[in-house]
Formats: sequence, structure tokens, C-alpha cells
Amino acid sequence: MLTDTHGRIATDLRVSLTDRCNLRCTYCMPAEGLAWQPRSEQLTDDETVRLVRIAVTRLGVTDVRFTGGEPLLRPGLPGIVARCAALAPRPRLSLTTNGIGLTRTAPALRDAGLDRVNVSLDTLRPDRFARLTRRDRHRDVLAGLAAARDAGLEPVKVNSVLMRGLNDDEAPELLDWALRHGYHLRFIEQMPLDAQHGWQRERMVTAAEILERLAGSFALTPQDEGVRGSAPAERWWVDGGPATVGVIASVTRPFCRTCDRTRLTADGQVRSCLFAREETDLRTALRSGAPDEEIAGLWRTAMAGKKAGSGLDDPAFLQPARPMSAIGG
Ligand SMILES: C[S@@+](CC[C@H](N)C(=O)[O-])C[C@H]1O[C@@H](n2cnc3c(N)ncnc32)[C@H](O)[C@@H]1O
Repeated sequence: MLTDTHGRIATDLRVSLTDRCNLRCTYCMPAEGLAWQPRSEQLTDDETVRLVRIAVTRLGVTDVRFTGGEPLLRPGLPGIVARCAALAPRPRLSLTTNGIGLTRTAPALRDAGLDRVNVSLDTLRPDRFARLTRRDRHRDVLAGLAAARDAGLEPVKVNSVLMRGLNDDEAPELLDWALRHGYHLRFIEQMPLDAQHGWQRERMVTAAEILERLAGSFALTPQDEGVRGSAPAERWWVDGGPATVGVIASVTRPFCRTCDRTRLTADGQVRSCLFAREETDLRTALRSGAPDEEIAGLWRTAMAGKKAGSGLDDPAFLQPARPMSAIGG
């Protein structure tokens, strides 16, 4: 098991499959992109599946989420999913994606064993989308979402980040749209993980503000009052239910105390937290012929030292050296 000194057990693995992306969201990457990881440093499909196998069969991981960068850019994705789905015990498999290309790949991913998807979409307006992502692909994202739902990759969750003066007036519109399409909407507070280091605490749209804006159009009642599980989203019934809306308040109401996550970057580094400043290199061990038990031991040690909190609430907080796209969001 992946236990830490604060009594938490990590069972949820985020695997980044690439640091590359076909969008350039302003809160994530600069317009010109980043210096991508050399391919030789990226884990191969076999290496990735081997690490997932070690996590699932030796370390108690039950949930695996593929992310990036943009994981749909990874040519071997359906094969990786199929091989992970064949593991015993079978982990639950999900994907965080911008949705571009799902119209082609959703059925194959479902057949390979993918259970569900989270699609990131911050606006319903194509002109805003182009400004926010620096790419004119709004229509492709909407089509990708529909394809995921039609393929049965449900529940289809939609992740939205609101930014002041850019799309923070769209909260009720986004929720109304998600309810009509049967998507589960979650708002995520913007985090200091952009490559440009442009995040400002004072400008961030907080969970409290998001809820206030929604409350102007919907009756919201807390779903799990007083109970905070390991799920990062706090959820509210919308107009009495059954539909819900989630808010992931990573900055103002962090869920560190119940965090059950462990992370693997596309270049084979274990991270105990998005905001960790330390990484543990599994790639070198893999490539120097280390047996499974030795790799599992390195992973256990990496997680044992997980800090109590992300440190985001500390005025001396230092942003991790790598941006979100290189860690795996
Ligand atoms: C880094 S992306 C990777 C997966 C995929 N490309 C996607 O778009 O979902 C994962 C999620 O991180 C979010 N994200 C990126 N930078 C962020 C930031 N600074 N604060 C909050 N969320 C961020 C994106 O909006 C997206 O929902």
C-alpha cells in the first residue's frame, strides 16, 4: 500500500502520457508552447503499463486516470488502456482530456476498457474559447463531448476554470447547458501551476464567488454536508436534484487531509502532490533493470514522505518547478 506518515492511503493514480498539448490555454501555457520533454525521456507504452501494473498489483491502486498534456495525442492510448483494463484486479480507468478527437476515438477507447472521461471546457462562446485556448477548436470540443456520451463513457464530467473578466460571468450559463446535456459540471479554482507564473491569489475566482453566482439562478443544497470524502469536488444538489454541480476549491478549501492521490509524470517521476517540489525517479530504475519489488519500494518511499498539505495557504508558497502540463493535470 502507499501509506504516508499522516495516515493517508493513496489508491488513485494520475498517469501523464505526454506533456504536449494541442491547445495553449492562457492559464496553463505560453502562446509559443514549452520546451517539450525529449521523446527518449518519455516512458514507452510498455514502461507505462509496467508501472501501472506495479501500482495496481503491489501498491493497492484502484483508480487510474490518464492525463497530460493532452492524452489523446498519445498514439498508443487505446493499447495502454486495453492492457491496464486487463490487469487483475481491474482498476477503474478514466481520462482527463480537452475532448478534441474524441469523435474518432471514443468508441475505441470504450471498447479498450475506458470507463469514463472528464472533458475540460471553460466557455460556451467560440470567440472566448479561441481567446482562452489560442485555438479555434470549440466546435471540436462540443462534438467530442457528445461522442463520449454516445459511446457510454459516463458520467461525462466537464471541468471549468473561471477567470476574472474573461469568463466568470458564465457560471449559470455553463450549468444550465451541462444540465440540458446530462454532463456533470465541476468548477475548478485556478491554481498557481501555469508555466508563465502569472497566477495571482487576489484575482482568482473563489469557490465562494462561484457558488454565489450560481445561487442567483439555481437553488443549491450541499450534498454531503459536514462530510468530506477523498473526492476533491464538493457537490451541491441543483434545484433539489437529482442533478448536482461540483466545485473543486483546491486553493480556498484544500482537500489535502483526505487526499488519496499519487502521480506519475510522462517521464517516469513519481510525485506525491501536484504542488510537491520533490520527485522520485522511477525511469532510471526501470531502465537499469530493477525488479518490480524494487520499483514498488521506491514508490512507497516517495509517498511515505507526502507533506500534510499543498502549502498553498502559506504566504511563502513556492510554485513547483514544472508546470501543470508537465506534471499531469
Ligand atoms: C492540464 S489539463 C490536462 C488534461 C487535458 N489536456 C485537459 O484539457 O483536460 C487538466 C486540467 O487542468 C486544468 N488546468 C490547467 N491549468 C490550470 C490551472 N492553472 N489552474 C486550474 N486548473 C488548471 C485544465 O483546465 C484541465 O481541466
